[in-house]
Amino acid sequence: MSIIVNEERRIFLLQTLHNSYAFGVDDQGLLRHLYWGKKIDAIDDFEMPVLAEVSTNDPVFEITREEFPVYGRLRYKEHCLKVTFADGCREVDYIYENYKIENHKDYDELIITLKDSHYDLYITLHYKVYGDFDLMERSVTLRNASQENMAIEQLQSAQFHIPYENLNFSNVHGHWGAEQQRFVQKVSYGKVVIENRRGISSHNHNPYFILDHDASETQGEVYFGALRRSGNFSGVVEQTPYGETLVQMGLNDHDFCYNLAPGEEFSAPAIICGYTNQGFETMSHHLHHFAQAFILDNDIRPVLYNSWEATGFGVTCEEQLKLAKKAKELGAELFVVDDGWFGERNGIKNGLGDWYVNKQKFPHGIDELIDEVKSLGMMFGIWVEPEMVNPPTKLYKEHPDWIYHFATRVSDTSREQYVLDMTREDVQQFVYQMLDDLLTSHDVDYIKWDANRPISQSNFDRSVWYKHIEAVYDIVKALKKKHPHVLFEACASGGGRIDYGILGIFDDFWTSDNTDACDRLTIQDSYSYIYPIKAMRAWVTDCPNFISNRDIPMRYRFHSAMMGTLGIGCNILKFSDEETKLAQEMIALYKEIRPIVQEGDFYRLENLSEDDYRSYEYLKDTKGLLFVFLSHTRIGHRPLTLKLRGLKKDTRYKLTYGDQEIHKSGAYLMERGIDLRLSGDYASELIFISEM
Ligand code: DGJ
Repeated sequence: MSIIVNEERRIFLLQTLHNSYAFGVDDQGLLRHLYWGKKIDAIDDFEMPVLAEVSTNDPVFEITREEFPVYGRLRYKEHCLKVTFADGCREVDYIYENYKIENHKDYDELIITLKDSHYDLYITLHYKVYGDFDLMERSVTLRNASQENMAIEQLQSAQFHIPYENLNFSNVHGHWGAEQQRFVQKVSYGKVVIENRRGISSHNHNPYFILDHDASETQGEVYFGALRRSGNFSGVVEQTPYGETLVQMGLNDHDFCYNLAPGEEFSAPAIICGYTNQGFETMSHHLHHFAQAFILDNDIRPVLYNSWEATGFGVTCEEQLKLAKKAKELGAELFVVDDGWFGERNGIKNGLGDWYVNKQKFPHGIDELIDEVKSLGMMFGIWVEPEMVNPPTKLYKEHPDWIYHFATRVSDTSREQYVLDMTREDVQQFVYQMLDDLLTSHDVDYIKWDANRPISQSNFDRSVWYKHIEAVYDIVKALKKKHPHVLFEACASGGGRIDYGILGIFDDFWTSDNTDACDRLTIQDSYSYIYPIKAMRAWVTDCPNFISNRDIPMRYRFHSAMMGTLGIGCNILKFSDEETKLAQEMIALYKEIRPIVQEGDFYRLENLSEDDYRSYEYLKDTKGLLFVFLSHTRIGHRPLTLKLRGLKKDTRYKLTYGDQEIHKSGAYLMERGIDLRLSGDYASELIFISEM
């Protein structure tokens, strides 16, 4: 049983394979947090601490561990819920009502219902327990059972209590072309806030928290949670004066208000959360396994070719046909036409919103290209940016009121475009219809859905920050229902929409516009902490790279991109015979190893050398891979001793690369490790592992 209840003492114990989470109801009907950590079976050992005021300046609400703190009474810490009722009362005062347990195929769910002591506001806390995955998923639903409106001004998905001070908090910072830059900082007294106010989950931070107690990849305590939401989020980590650290994550309350009408329900996004005392690797494995089991489908992702870096907006049917033939010759399985195929789209200034095929570029229609791609035996994909409109378009001229704007203000463009007001039903209908027509009239297998600017001037309804992304989710869900074979890639100027909200509705992420193979290793490394490898699109592109101006050998570029779902973004028509041959070999090799890459267990190996080696391991069943990179050879560089992980200690393994073949036991490979020396800048090696 993963949910144990002591009815008499009103204590709830949630059990996963290795961990426990406990809370209870006190004599005032308040939910009190009791424990989160390594497994404890004896529910009767948990006790409800007696509430006592230490001093008038330390009220009980401040010092007690509340499971779901709300705004009201003598509470001054961060809270999860703030509501203004129709009569102007601005505090919630809840009392525990009841609990329910539901057993589902994949999880058990504990549902706790709370009710305001005066108003007919019901708060339902959901705890889904995924025992075998050592994870929980928490969410909150509000229901207005009264006859009057309620203004929801804040709703966090959950609060977590961590019984330590001086924890390490990690997340990512970044910007366009530099997403997923992992940082770690010590938490001290006060608060750490990460958030996004742009309407997309953004390049700047990512909606998750990791708090560790001096953990490494393989050891130490790690508490983590990842929000299932794109769009505005906030996460607050607070080390209190009372010896613990609190974390809250959910909808950002900045410029937010949701009017909950009588009879209506409103939910905070779910948060997938967990604890491990086995370090970051176990955290990543739990999340990756969860994503594979419940979020992603079982299909292996195809090798794609995308023409964006090769042609930019200068798309022509003639050149696309040539690119498609060459892409096929190289081994690509999916041909994607990027931006520039529609409307008067010859640059960023025009076209968005006018989703007709450009006659100059495709005089006989786009089916000429699609038919050729299909006759070559490839799938066909196409780029769209449906939430946006350029000012000179027919769409904008006909519907100037369809954008987010204030009538008395000049509307801001960014990348020369406005954002469509996706909360309007007519706009939703337009976007759905446009995409449904595209998928119905043409044989399209893949949609790359882009969003190249943040939302601004978001009209008068402060729930836009919530409703915009809900509309995007709903449209894609409806499209997938009607066109179930179509894969959707989530892109927002690169990796601006990487989150567990969009994943599962969309199938993969464009991780970054930065395709420099070396920078990508940093991006991919950080990404892997939380997100599954199968959803990480990675392209090989031309050198010098357009962002870094760096020349990197093609072999290294391939190795770097083969660590995710491989794509090619080069101008392949310019390939030499030698480059063609190498690309063909690498793509063929990727097709052999991709089940291990896309569905295997991923290990960030620790580097033992002071040189800039990076090494990563993948394991699936009896096979595995090691990717090793040396970006810069330094003076006096030393060999790398590489200790493998996750092997069976008594099994013998064969490691092969180049003309080398090594036979060792799992114990030797994990404890002693192998010595390896790469030389020269941008050297890389792919080593194959198999059980003997
Ligand atoms: C930004 C994306 O990240 C690129 O891959 C490309 O699709 C461009 N937009 C097209 O405008």
